[in-house]
Amino acid sequence: MKITVVGAGNVGATCADACARLELANEVVLVDIKEGLAEGKSLDIWETSPISLYDTRVTGSTNDYSKTAGSDVVVITSGLPRKPGMSRDDLINTNAKIVKSVTENVIEHSPEAIIIVVSNPLDVMCYTAYLTTGKKNKNKVIGMAGILDTARYRSFLAMELDCSPKDIQAVLMGGHGDTMVPLPRYTTVGGIPVTELVAKDKLDAIIERTKKGGGELVNLMGTSAWYAPGTAAAQMVEAIVRDQKRIFPCCAWLEGEYGLNDIYLGVPVKLGKGGIEQVIELDLNDDEKALLNESAGHVREVMNVLDDMKMF
Ligand code: NAI
Ligand code: 2OP
Repeated sequence: MKITVVGAGNVGATCADACARLELANEVVLVDIKEGLAEGKSLDIWETSPISLYDTRVTGSTNDYSKTAGSDVVVITSGLPRKPGMSRDDLINTNAKIVKSVTENVIEHSPEAIIIVVSNPLDVMCYTAYLTTGKKNKNKVIGMAGILDTARYRSFLAMELDCSPKDIQAVLMGGHGDTMVPLPRYTTVGGIPVTELVAKDKLDAIIERTKKGGGELVNLMGTSAWYAPGTAAAQMVEAIVRDQKRIFPCCAWLEGEYGLNDIYLGVPVKLGKGGIEQVIELDLNDDEKALLNESAGHVREVMNVLDDMKMF
């Protein structure tokens, strides 16, 4: 098994480190455009192997994609992160060009790889990568956002309930932005519906905090988050390389599911060795459907910006 992580910045290095610690592959290759950065970060990560006790070899390369040849999974984290005052959508001009050129390099050397996109604006960067592959296989171009967004939601609930985050299960749908749709009706704590444990006003506040969870961290740190995002991407890699068939919210290309067509959007999926092996269709009520459609409308606006850039 071989994993490539493109972008050796905050999220990429965290993801590569998590993949190595979990021994998800024989080799993890980190790639960056900045001279020496991937070599340095990968060496630093590899030097933890005698302490953390793993065998996964971590190597780095400055833009030499021949080193990534034959990768089974490629995680794309290259691109600008947002700064305070910016939305994820403000990144589209720069990041679309980066994600397109990176995807071209990736598929030239690893044509069968499953691609996990992390770069923002997430839903439209998945669309960019999918278009770059020539729309070859929708199940193999997947976006990471829902695992991160539900992790934030679950961690806030664990704080509110003073309980283990391990016992909180949740589904969240829609685009990776302020219109994301956490679903309290599908949130349980040790099997108990969250609505029986948390008062509505408190739950509403947690949902609002979740929607703005990325911005909260940007305001605190001056750049966007990386520990939870990098770890979330590694959890997707794990589900794929270990064929775990786990059920996660991921960004998937929809062709009729939820009444939506030709759009990347966060939905619950089954993740295994084939990538997305199933999109799970929940029986949403009218309010939930309205929120999902509103979120899809927002993603479509950003897709239109990409289409207007005439890159494809
Ligand atoms: P960063 O700035 O720490 O790292 C980005 C890296 O990409 C840099 O090292 C840069 O040199 C590299 N890069 C730029 N152009 C490249 C190219 N053409 N080829 C290879 N490498 C290239 O940024 P960070 O914090 O790691 O974030 C990366 C991306 O992930 C951002 O777009 C950010 O918005 C996004 N993100 C998405 C999340 C999600 O939930 N989907 C969560 C967190 C971040
Ligand atoms: C996050 O949600 C900025 O997408 C990034 O942390």
